Amino acid sequence: MKLSLVRVQTWGQALDLLKVRNACREGMTHTTEEITVAQQERFWREQLLPGHTFEAYVWYDARKPIGFGVIKKDGRKAWMTHGLVPEVRGRHLSRIGIQLITQMGYAVADEVWIDVWDWNHALRGDIREGYEFVESATQPDGQVLHVMKHHRDRIPGERERARLREAAASLRDELLEVDAVSRAAYR
Ligand SMILES: CC(C)(COP(=O)(O)OP(=O)(O)OC[C@H]1O[C@@H](n2cnc3c(N)ncnc32)[C@H](O)[C@@H]1OP(=O)(O)O)[C@@H](O)C(=O)NCCC(=O)NCCS
Repeated sequence: MKLSLVRVQTWGQALDLLKVRNACREGMTHTTEEITVAQQERFWREQLLPGHTFEAYVWYDARKPIGFGVIKKDGRKAWMTHGLVPEVRGRHLSRIGIQLITQMGYAVADEVWIDVWDWNHALRGDIREGYEFVESATQPDGQVLHVMKHHRDRIPGERERARLREAAASLRDELLEVDAVSRAAYR
């Protein structure tokens, strides 16, 4: 793959964003409606060009738009969402998107938040990339919506700390061994 992430600025990029977002609309939490070209033109002109509240990004594989990320600034918070077109799903690429869009969120806000349906595979990557549950609510239609906050400086628990200590000790032994071999070679 020839991946690149581009901040949406031109109308052409806004059209690519429209295409990708509409291919991902089933997982959206606010509106799953198909966005029209006219709506996108307005969103691009009124929101994306000034960039005061929204920032949008498109992932390209070479020149083909394959994914998107959006950040909505909301005081101390940035809300993020992301998606990948069906053709490239199932390859663990979503974690790259979550990481990058989350860090872009920190560039404009103190906290980064996400809301995600319980049934969405995005939830697994969100948890793995450091999002923690803040609130979960069952909607009138029975679906469960989680509101999650990113924990940037997660402190590992005791079991994880023990595992990290063990890994560090074996790495140290390995480095000492490499050092001994190279010293012997240069003697
Ligand atoms: C959510 C989305 C980005 C996930 O992308 P993806 O390429 O399908 O997922 P990945 O390959 O990166 O895998 C993410 C996790 O979901 C799991 N997963 C993905 N597809 C799966 C499937 N069909 N069945 C079971 N698990 C699946 C993966 O195993 C992985 O979990 P793991 O790390 O525990 O192994 C993609 O489905 C999408 O764009 N959906 C529409 C938009 C959307 O819902 N965005 C999220 C808004 S909050």
